[in-house]
Amino acid sequence: MKSLAIIGAQWGDEGKGKITDLLGAKCDYVVRYQGGNNAGHTIIVDGKKTVLHLIPSGILHDSCVSVIAHGLVFDPEAFKKEFEEVGEVVSITPDKLKISSNCSVITHYNKLLDAVRESQGPVKIGTTGKGIGPAYEDKISRKGIKVKDLFDLESLKEKLGQNLIEKKVLFKTLYKSEFPSVEEEAARLFELGKIIKPFACDTFTLLDEAFSNGKKVLFEGAQGILLDIDYGSYPFVTSSNTSLGGIYTGAGVPGTNVEEVLGIVKAYTTRVGEGPFPTELECETGKKIQEKGHEFGATTGRKRRCGWIDLPLLKYTVKASNLTSIALTKVDVLSGLESLKVCTSYEYEGRTLTCSSPDLDLDKVKPVFEDLKPFKDELTVESDPSNISVELKNYIKKIEDFIEVPVGLISFGPDRNQIKFLKEYF
Ligand code: GDP
Ligand code: IMO
Ligand code: MG
Repeated sequence: MKSLAIIGAQWGDEGKGKITDLLGAKCDYVVRYQGGNNAGHTIIVDGKKTVLHLIPSGILHDSCVSVIAHGLVFDPEAFKKEFEEVGEVVSITPDKLKISSNCSVITHYNKLLDAVRESQGPVKIGTTGKGIGPAYEDKISRKGIKVKDLFDLESLKEKLGQNLIEKKVLFKTLYKSEFPSVEEEAARLFELGKIIKPFACDTFTLLDEAFSNGKKVLFEGAQGILLDIDYGSYPFVTSSNTSLGGIYTGAGVPGTNVEEVLGIVKAYTTRVGEGPFPTELECETGKKIQEKGHEFGATTGRKRRCGWIDLPLLKYTVKASNLTSIALTKVDVLSGLESLKVCTSYEYEGRTLTCSSPDLDLDKVKPVFEDLKPFKDELTVESDPSNISVELKNYIKKIEDFIEVPVGLISFGPDRNQIKFLKEYF
């Protein structure tokens, strides 16, 4: 295998960081291609925790180049903080980290807009507050600031001035909010640009050459397919293509260069922020899962909502991103529960549906559950995967049969080595 995409197959936080770090050890490049520092990807090695937001999860391996491709929205201030923090764990040099000069920048104006819309706007999405949506809006409306713009103060001022014309009206008249002047914002960004400049390059050509030279490339998705701007539970989504298509546009890599797609699936379902959640457990069991799974957002610290695994949604995300196998994570959290349920269909407007779609109003579906026998496995690094209990085997088989994609690995703890491979990658 020369290339693999790792994509969250639910509402994010499935354990992408852990799996990317693990497989990144075998790769030459690990590439982030969408989203920004709304992501929070946790890696735990021998009990030591690193949370990455912008920097790809290959960074702990010296043998691998981490690439921030042009599809991200990049907050220079957040980068500086993360660069300094992660720099205490591992050295980050310009030959190890590459940032696309063509990446869109998140400005203070974007972060302010995100905040005032969440507090004053008519619809609260429950965003991470990182300015992600407004920065993508600037990009799409062709008013955005790019990483390469940070290196020339005069042209940066001019572009920020144009960028601010419409926003000024919003800040002054609609939201009654203070905002920095163009001069202040340009000076701030220009200073941050000095830190970024040594890492900035043309990542399109870098990756094109990597593929030509037969290098191994791992793509690290952020968020999950159900948060995709097109495939997700709109409007309660993020503002990028978190699904497979995001790689083609966000890294500039043609589809033929992605050999396999590994969907990361939590053994149950979680969601942070607002939006529909058919299998949500607003009861003691949900609380138990939330507590045992330490389900708190890695970026915002918010409590994650928890529920049973939702197979109609998974069947849909398999189709939406052509998943070729899945990683089942946090199996240990379900182990020992008194009951175990899987959602196998929805009742919707008098019909029974076994696969979701973007057209479906998830607020109105009634989930139908099947009871399975709970499992009590206490897997360890030494456990032989063939010795797992019949109950856990049944749980895995139920998922595989339903979504028609194999489970390639199971993760049973947060640490890097708490994993069992049922299939080989790279
Ligand atoms: P990501 O955004 O998909 O990378 O996931 P997060 O890092 O936001 O959330 C996953 C959380 O679960 C992190 O705290 C991980 O350390 C933890 N984790 C990952 N895999 C496992 C697992 O198999 N079992 C347990 N108990 N925790 C896990
Ligand atoms: P990782 O990569 C879980 C959610 C927010 C909110 C919605 C829009 O760690 O899995 P945004 O700030 O992007 O405009 O917020 O998307 N969200 C995530 N939820 N994991 C993430 O990333 C998320 N990134 C954004 O909670 O509901
Ligand atoms: Mg996360």
